[in-house]
Amino acid sequence: MAKVKIGYFCQNCGAQHSQWMGQCTHCGTWNTLVEERVEKGQKTAFGGASQASHHGERSKALRLGEIKAESASRLCTRDAEFNRALGGGITAGSVNLLGGEPGIGKSTLLLQLALQLAPHKVLYVSGEESPLQIKRRATRLPFENPHLFLSNETQTRGVFHQLDRVQPDLLIVDSIQSLQTDCIDASPGTVVQLRASTAELVQFSKASNTPVVLIGHITKAGQLAGPKVLEHLVDTVLQFEGDPNHVHRILRVLKNRFGSTSALGVYEMRENGLREVANPSDSLITRKGAQLSGSSIAVTLAGMRPLLIEVQALVSSAVYGTPQRSATGYDAKRLNMLLAVLEKRAGFELGTKDVFLNVTGGIRVTDPALDLAVIAAILSSDSDSCIPENYCFTAEVGLSGELRAVRRVEPRISEAEKLGFKKVFLSPYNHLSQEPKEIEPVRIAKVADLCQALFQF
Ligand code: TYD
Ligand code: MG
Repeated sequence: MAKVKIGYFCQNCGAQHSQWMGQCTHCGTWNTLVEERVEKGQKTAFGGASQASHHGERSKALRLGEIKAESASRLCTRDAEFNRALGGGITAGSVNLLGGEPGIGKSTLLLQLALQLAPHKVLYVSGEESPLQIKRRATRLPFENPHLFLSNETQTRGVFHQLDRVQPDLLIVDSIQSLQTDCIDASPGTVVQLRASTAELVQFSKASNTPVVLIGHITKAGQLAGPKVLEHLVDTVLQFEGDPNHVHRILRVLKNRFGSTSALGVYEMRENGLREVANPSDSLITRKGAQLSGSSIAVTLAGMRPLLIEVQALVSSAVYGTPQRSATGYDAKRLNMLLAVLEKRAGFELGTKDVFLNVTGGIRVTDPALDLAVIAAILSSDSDSCIPENYCFTAEVGLSGELRAVRRVEPRISEAEKLGFKKVFLSPYNHLSQEPKEIEPVRIAKVADLCQALFQF
């Protein structure tokens, strides 16, 4: 008979406390502790595997040399961006968690993936939508898979029955928050339920070598809902993000036990599903042909991929006492820092001016190499002079106004060269093993020299 105990779980980080408190001592958030029942020695709906591991073969310690070193086989999907993000497909026996804000396209991405996997068998379990709704969505997508099985089961026991019947090559669960196990007595969506049902799916996946992809909701704060705990249980954590008002979506890897976390996939949301973007830089730069002041091109790195992004700035006289600063797609604190550098090191009186900054495309980039392009856009708008459209920028700006080297500069330059840019502005500390042919690297030591180089004043 299972022993029942009461525990207090933080709904934000999943930490367990023996008594109720106003603040979680682990993550410091307030009013997140909720009383939940915990059963000691609980059984799981996925039978057998856990029992066997206690006294059977699996618990015997082996020498490293005794373990067969077969390379993990991967289920290669037809979605090149998804494969790229995961480092070459979904690893057999892996559990992958896909997080993202509501409406960003998680269900669409995985349904499309399932349809493209023909002739592999896929079981798509959705507690969120009825099979009819999923079918309607599937008819919008230009793919077909006669071996796609849909189910709206919400009990893990039921999911395991379906798995026995279908024997799929891939299991997709939309979403893990809607799934519950009857082995513990807690309401769906609670941390205990979430952890228990994920643990059962992990057991299933390891025992049967079937890969599993779980969809997880994201909280307002941008964390995978409640369970930081889930991130420890699963093998890879993916995040689907983007601005719902823009077409671009990015698939980012936050954790990957089988590869690097620096790869990333780029998609466009179309009327008929998500389309892979093989050359994101080309589709992100929209100002081609138009000569506009206040606009510059940054050569950034998203993961390992060079990405050219357009930065726009507007500098105008401040009408009110305190000048306004606003940044979209860029850290506002960093913008203030760059403005202070411009004021102190280059003598620009920006204290009486409003500055608005916009990184176009709705893509969040944290690469510091964007700094120089931001400064160039601000200077261009301030002096109302255009930057020639075939110039691009890649350098970090330090507090003394010096230009600092960026990492992986060569792939960045060759991407800019491929797209027809003629000059790239960078730090003198970035050494190139070979001078590029079609594009001229312009080395600038300080921000004060940028105006001279760009506008000759
Ligand atoms: P969805 O996959 O339901 O988002 P999530 O599962 O992350 O909540 O995607 C919802 C949005 O995608 C919805 O606003 C409609 C849009 N969409 C398209 O633009 N084109 C399509 O082909 C499909 C299927 C959806
Ligand atoms: Mg959904």
